[in-house]
Amino acid sequence: MPVFRLSKEVLAGTAVLGAFAAGVIIGKKWAILHFGTRNMHNTLPKRDDPLIDYVLRHSLREHPLLKKLRLRTMEEPEGMIMVCCDQAQFMANLAKLICAKKVLEIGVFTGYKALNMALALPDDGKVVGCEVNNDYINIGKPFWKKAGVEHKIDVRIKPAIETLDELLVAGEAGTYDFAFIDADKQSYNEYYEKCLRLVRKGGIIAIDNVFWHRKVLKPDKNDTACQAIQHLNEKILRDVRVNISMITMADGVTLAFKL
Ligand SMILES: C[S@@+](CC[C@H](N)C(=O)[O-])C[C@H]1O[C@@H](n2cnc3c(N)ncnc32)[C@H](O)[C@@H]1O
Repeated sequence: MPVFRLSKEVLAGTAVLGAFAAGVIIGKKWAILHFGTRNMHNTLPKRDDPLIDYVLRHSLREHPLLKKLRLRTMEEPEGMIMVCCDQAQFMANLAKLICAKKVLEIGVFTGYKALNMALALPDDGKVVGCEVNNDYINIGKPFWKKAGVEHKIDVRIKPAIETLDELLVAGEAGTYDFAFIDADKQSYNEYYEKCLRLVRKGGIIAIDNVFWHRKVLKPDKNDTACQAIQHLNEKILRDVRVNISMITMADGVTLAFKL
């Protein structure tokens, strides 16, 4: 004889609640593992694709402090705007390949990509970051510090256009090795033009979100961000100042190699 007996209704209710709780926990874990959940929203490649899952599990070599920063960033309501881990690693590998020392980061957020870059650069290397929201930087800074690379990251809190103009006035044209454009989309064309001046010959400009969540396939006239990206994609295709590759990674990234 059991000590207590539960009615079928109570047992069924408990099972449903249990399944719901398990779903929430697994769902959260899935999102955290899938690095930058913005890519779960109908973008290429889909993060819930088992093949992409395989790729991540067999290629991501995430520094422990990058992982901690990612998990901390995902606690923020807007955490999903963080760059994708595999993409950040890819760009850091490219920076190493070209022996980069000076890097521009347009749109830093909590600095997952900036930290990736700082870890890849030599000790006298420098990441100049453009960001308007200091609260995001304050989230990232302790992680940069613990990783021992805080001295390599110099974030300017003001609109990116102003910072880029200041760098040009300071005579830094042609001195950057790598630039990553990942801030407000409406200004992408201006960022691209200024980066082309700041980056040296043989340097790389990486432009994020060039698929704009697949919307570039059917641009909406009222979506100004999509229009701006579409316009830049068309322009870069014909731009004789660069060689290009459009990579089907995350939300699409164009690599422009300055000639
Ligand atoms: C997609 S997030 C950048 C993600 C980041 N690259 C990473 O490693 O996770 C875009 C960032 O651009 C910043 N931003 C938006 N408009 C900006 C502007 N005009 N100037 C500088 N930063 C800007 C936002 O505050 C936000 O943090």
